[in-house]
Amino acid sequence: MGYCSRFMGMMLDKSAISMHNAGMGHAQRVQTSGSVCFVRAYAKINLTLDVLGRRADGYHALATVMQTVDLHDTLCLTATDDNRVQVVCTRPELSNEDNLAARAAQLLRERFALQQGILIELRKRIPIAAGLGGGSSDAAAVLLAMRQWWQLSLSPSELQELAASLGSDVPFFLTGGLALCEGRGEQVTPLAASLTNWPSSIRWVLLLKPAIGIATASVFSGLPASDYTDGSYSRAVITALQAGSLPQPEDFHNSLERSVLERYPEVAQAKVDLLQAGCPLVGLSGSGPTLYALFSELSCASQVQERLQAQGYEMYLSHVISPNQGDIRVL
Ligand code: C5P
Repeated sequence: MGYCSRFMGMMLDKSAISMHNAGMGHAQRVQTSGSVCFVRAYAKINLTLDVLGRRADGYHALATVMQTVDLHDTLCLTATDDNRVQVVCTRPELSNEDNLAARAAQLLRERFALQQGILIELRKRIPIAAGLGGGSSDAAAVLLAMRQWWQLSLSPSELQELAASLGSDVPFFLTGGLALCEGRGEQVTPLAASLTNWPSSIRWVLLLKPAIGIATASVFSGLPASDYTDGSYSRAVITALQAGSLPQPEDFHNSLERSVLERYPEVAQAKVDLLQAGCPLVGLSGSGPTLYALFSELSCASQVQERLQAQGYEMYLSHVISPNQGDIRVL
């Protein structure tokens, strides 16, 4: 079954459950504490991505260490009376109901049989189809904002389940920060290493987005078993970070990188250019094409950014961040 039909099936199930739980056959209105709600949705990078093997359901078993960075989209939610979800995005190709943020809102409306419609204005800054989790983060932000703003009664495990039904990366963005993600990515373990002992030598994150988009499914589907790993790269990075020390450069491993560099020469060239510009540590985020370079000093990161921007690359200078509830603002 394709993702869309699985999603539709799940929506119908959830709708039926929510009607049953609510003990009523009609839609309800929610109490809102304000008329507009702003929320930030941060991007992530994958410090490691161990693909452990292929699962019976077609997904791949992962162990991946993810970290949020301060590059973010901004969403503004407004309650409407038109009983539908509408997305207006600064990238017109995302202004539609298939947008994961719209699906997240619709999922909650079905789950709680909500009468209100919602307008989602989405200021997109995170590059699309880039390996930075932008769509997943937008969806998680909508779940968190609607739950808080409309005071929806959802336990952490119910929220996690809804998030996982939207995409493998969505549960990570419910908490963000530094986490180990396992299963197909949806089993999230926040890591004890906090930003207070984050190694200062990797505090600045320079992102380079090659001028292509990559569909995650295509990268996973072509992955040979010889690129599978046993999870040891993720374990090594976690051990180092929990001790407040810098992981070995070779432990920033991504099982998808070899095939992405082989299939997409633009990404391979961008990696060469980052290394030649003097970046000490370069990794591929998710299924790419975005590469990240880690720096201790802003001046070094900024110099590389200027040099590679002059070569025509799309670059973002960012830093690691732990999001918190203050990122949701009701006006
Ligand atoms: O879960 P999500 O919809 O983000 O995944 C997109 C696609 O990436 C899946 O349909 C699947 O083809 C692939 N994928 C995978 N193994 C994972 C996560 C994603 O094969 N752990």
